[in-house]
Formats: sequence, structure tokens, C-alpha cells
Amino acid sequence: TKIALFASGNGSNVQAIIDAIEQKKLNAAVELVVCDKPNAFVIERAKNAGIDVFSFQAKSFSSKEEYEKIICEKLEEKGIEWIILAGYMRLIGKVLLSAYEKKIINIHPSLLPAFPGKDAVGQAVEYGVKVMGVTIHYVDEGMDTGPIIAQESFAVSEEMDKVQIEKQIHSIEHKLYPSTLQQLFT
Ligand code: GRF
Repeated sequence: TKIALFASGNGSNVQAIIDAIEQKKLNAAVELVVCDKPNAFVIERAKNAGIDVFSFQAKSFSSKEEYEKIICEKLEEKGIEWIILAGYMRLIGKVLLSAYEKKIINIHPSLLPAFPGKDAVGQAVEYGVKVMGVTIHYVDEGMDTGPIIAQESFAVSEEMDKVQIEKQIHSIEHKLYPSTLQQLFT
């Protein structure tokens, strides 16, 4: 299964997917990493793994439609079948949604539909929730909306601070994303 990974930042989930493929836990090929931040660490990770990168700056285009058309061309050139968002901090627009219907997946660090949007963990900590988790879902035009594919929760103990909670979330994500994708692709 040919996939493209979209990311904006550190890319630890991108790394987890690359590693799972190498360890034969995930039967897929990452043909392209798409990144909207030219200095993001994820670009380095992709290069180290020998994966092609398409990086762009949204402000160089007049609209989302404009840059998504270019992305779409790159994806089609490479025969991409699925788009996997991993910390990609932009809403997906109609160009990509219609070209990849039900083939775009996202991971979000909360038990959706609670705490969509930015800093989900911060929002959840602020609220004092005692159960947190991770959601993998199909992408639609909304912000962290779309049918849920998988979730994993954990209990938040009294002594956990935000840093520990984030660590826990990442360790869940790095296993749940590859295993969920493997199920989707088979
Ligand atoms: C993850 O927590 C993911 O759930 C969210 O953005 C974060 C990306 O982290 N959508 P990383 O760049 O994969 O390390």
C-alpha cells in the first residue's frame, strides 16, 4: 500500500510508521512526506530514511485550493493510495478530500469528540479529566471530526503532570497508529 505522510513538526509519529514498516509490522511504503514547515524536524527524519519530501509554504499560494492541487499532482505521480496525517496542522480542503475520499486518516491526542483542535492535551489537563486517550479517525472538512476508527484510553493518576501525560500519549500513538493502519490496509 503506497502512502503519503503529512506532518508539520517533530514527526515522532512519522518515525513510528517508518520504523513499523522496516520491522515488517506494517505492510506499506511511504512514498512521500508532505510538510508545510520548511524547518520542521520531520523533514530530517524523512531524508534520513531516504523518503522524498514535498515541502511548501501556504503563504506562497493564493489559496488552499492552489497548493492542494500541487500536492495532488505529486501524490498522483507517485501512485499514493492513502494520506496519513501525523501532526499536520492544517485543515484538508475539498481538492484533497474529493481526490482521496475515505482515504485520509488522522491521529488526535484526545478521546474525540472531546477536545478537538489545538493543544488538546492542555485543554484536557485544564479540565481535569481523569481518563485521556488517543483517537484515529477518517478526515472530513471539519477540525478533528469524521468517523472514528480506533481509540485507546488511559487513566490519569493524581501525580501525573502534563509532561508525563504527553509522554504516555505519544507512547500509545506510536503503537496504535501503525497497528490501526495495518488493519485498514489488509
Ligand atoms: C501528535 O500528538 C498527534 O496526535 C497530533 O500531533 C502530534 C504530532 O506529534 N495530531 P509528532 O510530530 O508525530 O511527534
